Amino acid sequence: MIPESFIQELLARVDIVDVVERYVTLKKAGANYSACCPFHSEKTPSFTVSPSKQFYHCFGCGAHGTAIGFLMQYAGLGFVEAVEDLASHTGLQVPREARGEAGQAAKARKAPLTELMARAARFYKDQLKGSPKAIDYLKERGLTGEVAARFGLGYAPDEWQGLQRVFPDYADPALLECGLVIDSDQGRRYDRFRDRIMFPILDQRGNVIGFGGRILSGGKGGADGPKYLNSPETPLFEKGRELYGLVQARQAIRERDTVIVVEGYMDVVALAQHGVGNAVATLGTATTPAHVQKLLRQASRIVFCFDGDAAGRKAAWRALEASLEHLTDDRFAGFLFLPPEHDPDSFVRAEGADAFQALVARPTALSEFLLRELRSRADLGSAEGRAQLVHEAKPLLQRLAAPVLRVQIVKALAAASAMQEQEIAAECGLKPLAAGRPAPRRQPRVLEVSQVRTLLRHVLRRPERAARLPLELIDRENRYGALLHEVADALDHGELAPGRLAPLFEYFRGTAHEPVIGEIAASIDDKADEAAEEQEFSDAVVRIQTRARKDELAELTARRAHLDPEEQRRWEELLAWLKDEASGRGRGA
Ligand code: UTP
Ligand code: MN
Repeated sequence: MIPESFIQELLARVDIVDVVERYVTLKKAGANYSACCPFHSEKTPSFTVSPSKQFYHCFGCGAHGTAIGFLMQYAGLGFVEAVEDLASHTGLQVPREARGEAGQAAKARKAPLTELMARAARFYKDQLKGSPKAIDYLKERGLTGEVAARFGLGYAPDEWQGLQRVFPDYADPALLECGLVIDSDQGRRYDRFRDRIMFPILDQRGNVIGFGGRILSGGKGGADGPKYLNSPETPLFEKGRELYGLVQARQAIRERDTVIVVEGYMDVVALAQHGVGNAVATLGTATTPAHVQKLLRQASRIVFCFDGDAAGRKAAWRALEASLEHLTDDRFAGFLFLPPEHDPDSFVRAEGADAFQALVARPTALSEFLLRELRSRADLGSAEGRAQLVHEAKPLLQRLAAPVLRVQIVKALAAASAMQEQEIAAECGLKPLAAGRPAPRRQPRVLEVSQVRTLLRHVLRRPERAARLPLELIDRENRYGALLHEVADALDHGELAPGRLAPLFEYFRGTAHEPVIGEIAASIDDKADEAAEEQEFSDAVVRIQTRARKDELAELTARRAHLDPEEQRRWEELLAWLKDEASGRGRGA
């Protein structure tokens, strides 16, 4: 793991113009440089490189990024490789430690393990090349060499100590720690994975952190052990957080703004083989809230695709519960139930990718699945059954983070249980529905999306401006607002270098913010006058704050007779501020 601070430092030293010029001939055009885009074919140049933003952007195909991104996109390097490449060009040494003190020790412990896992993965990959029976098995399952390579598939040979060939120090305790070997009660050490197809599991940065290994026979397990054997939890590998195939799927997930969650390694690989690249799998565990949170950072739609049998429905219900807390009203979670005889692998092979995509486009919405399940559990013909329905819905509604969706579900529950919506809301301890009631006191006002977007543009030019934002007026639920809050947090914690766009872009690499930054970055005008731009930003902040204070004052004034002492104090404070403001001496309130 490369510390974020190093990335920030590296980007401050590198000049993107030099990096791009290694591959593309650039022409000076005003403040920027331009060329015909290396990422799509064109006759007139729409590719520009901005030295002040340290960013490239193509107005034709939308490609954009930092120097690191360019090396990844153009030269096909991995993130770590790109960083190493840039570091070697600037004479910096890539540190491999962590930020915090505690993290430092943990990371120092992890680094050698990561190296061992990488070496094992290479070994298994090489072994696959030399094993006709393993190759035949994969071919029979419809996989091409290309897809096998993309997922780094390998083969663990049918030997007790095969790994000894790449780990001469086979007694190394680290081999046990990363789960590659097992020590028997008799003190004999042997390979955990033998005679199995190996699926390496990668973390977000592309390091191998674990393996899944499948036996080559049909699959009931038995004498050869279970059908799939997985790495145990190790310092590198926490099953409840990781997802199989996420690194390979990332681009497709972004392009479709949808991620498909399936149950099996083979499902992910087979879908990719058929061109459905945006699927990931949980690792033999139920879907966790951490999984959902991770995925909703990368796409606004999750479609859970489970088998049509009872186990699949159970898995789907667990996924629903895991989603409740992370679902907001601009995010979608849906469920797709295949016919009972199929899993995604067999379905896509039998029916094709188009048929599969058609199902993904029209999943059962979370709300519908929730209501359907609860209804099926209760006898709605009886008062007791209807009471049970509401009783079972209560904990779920309380956890649901999406307010509008919650209202919808309450409405549906009301219809099914012959109760009033208000009765259900009260019974479930939900905040009263807004409609038809007086606005709650001191309702927090939030800015219009366009105002937030403007602030974001200013902040992307100079990230340190985030410290001056009226954050209390910026809604975290909207994607621009969420980003502004995170920039402010990162600055506050000293994780983000002030000054330029490129470090900020890298800081948010791999998160849902990345496309947002890309979108806004393209609209930043390089030629704008710095001083005028700064004036514009401070004016905007002052205007927003003034408006908010006036609104607050008006609201308090309207309820003057009924203010509590705290509100009374605030009212006086605001009044004093308004007087100052009117006399031209404006000061903070
Ligand atoms: P399935 O039994 O549905 O297998 O397990 P599959 O993915 O369809 O595999 P193929 O098509 O027979 O090769 C789904 C997932 O459950 C976990 C694995 O993560 C597997 O991908 N699993 C299954 C285990 O961990 N151990 C097992 O013995 C079986
Ligand atoms: Mn299968």
